[in-house]
Amino acid sequence: MRLEGKTALITGAARGIGRSFAEAYIREGARVAVADIDTERARQTALELGDQAVAIELDVTCQESIERAVEQTVEALGCIDILVNNAAIFTAAPITEIHRDDFERVFDINVAGTLFTMQAVAEHMISRGAGGKIINMASQAGRRGEALVAVYCASKAAIISLTQSAGLNLIQHGINVNAIAPGVVDGEHWDGVDAFFAKYENKAPGEKKREVGDAVPFGRMGTADDLTGMAIFLASAEADYVVSQTYNVDGGNWMS
Ligand SMILES: NC(=O)c1ccc[n+]([C@@H]2O[C@H](COP(=O)([O-])OP(=O)(O)OC[C@H]3O[C@@H](n4cnc5c(N)ncnc54)[C@H](O)[C@@H]3O)[C@@H](O)[C@H]2O)c1
Repeated sequence: MRLEGKTALITGAARGIGRSFAEAYIREGARVAVADIDTERARQTALELGDQAVAIELDVTCQESIERAVEQTVEALGCIDILVNNAAIFTAAPITEIHRDDFERVFDINVAGTLFTMQAVAEHMISRGAGGKIINMASQAGRRGEALVAVYCASKAAIISLTQSAGLNLIQHGINVNAIAPGVVDGEHWDGVDAFFAKYENKAPGEKKREVGDAVPFGRMGTADDLTGMAIFLASAEADYVVSQTYNVDGGNWMS
């Protein structure tokens, strides 16, 4: 029960990694706001997670929606001790085929969404005066570029950088900002990634997934549950002296 009595807002928690984090935080004694643009699924997820979870409508590209979601979470849970900026989308295309619209959408959700949700929750944490923990979801894609994944890779490199700056700025208020860089994590997100590679590398559906799984030193793709240990640690008092770091949890894909 390392998060007993704590409250967490997790963006993009209706499914995938965010949902697993919500489950893990509840197991550790926290109450969780499952915030997502997919409100129907967020409601269903919160229902399945039980009475320690509440569904919150959130579009991280909309400032008003962010502010409302923070207010509603505080109303429902009393305060926010932990924020996980997890909502993101993936895109892929060769450089010559990248559209400005696609670039703007990815940066709006992945980067601006993370920054301005972090800002709104940090304001709450500062005015409350009890510190807090902010965890941003980066990726191995933020550690180096990939031929077909320029925009998503750049967005995740931005998350690593924002985590460093925000961590340095907010630690004076007792707010720890850190990030997790997963490798390849099986789930609906990767079904979408696989479809992009099927298109651009002329692969059969599922082939890219098999290849990336086989290439992981651990011997398989990750699961959302493989990441929960790090998510709990970074949200707990054990991480009080950890500032501005991005931790790879990727089965050995990347070393830094
Ligand atoms: N799955 C992987 O292999 C992998 C690897 C590295 C990093 N990551 C990162 O981990 C995080 C979670 O990944 P996942 O695999 O669970 O993804 P996912 O696609 O399964 O879940 C993302 C969630 O974000 C929500 N969302 C999208 N746009 C939103 C918006 N504007 N406002 C609020 N919510 C929005 C979606 O509805 C969805 O529920 C992401 O930041 C992703 O980039 C994933």
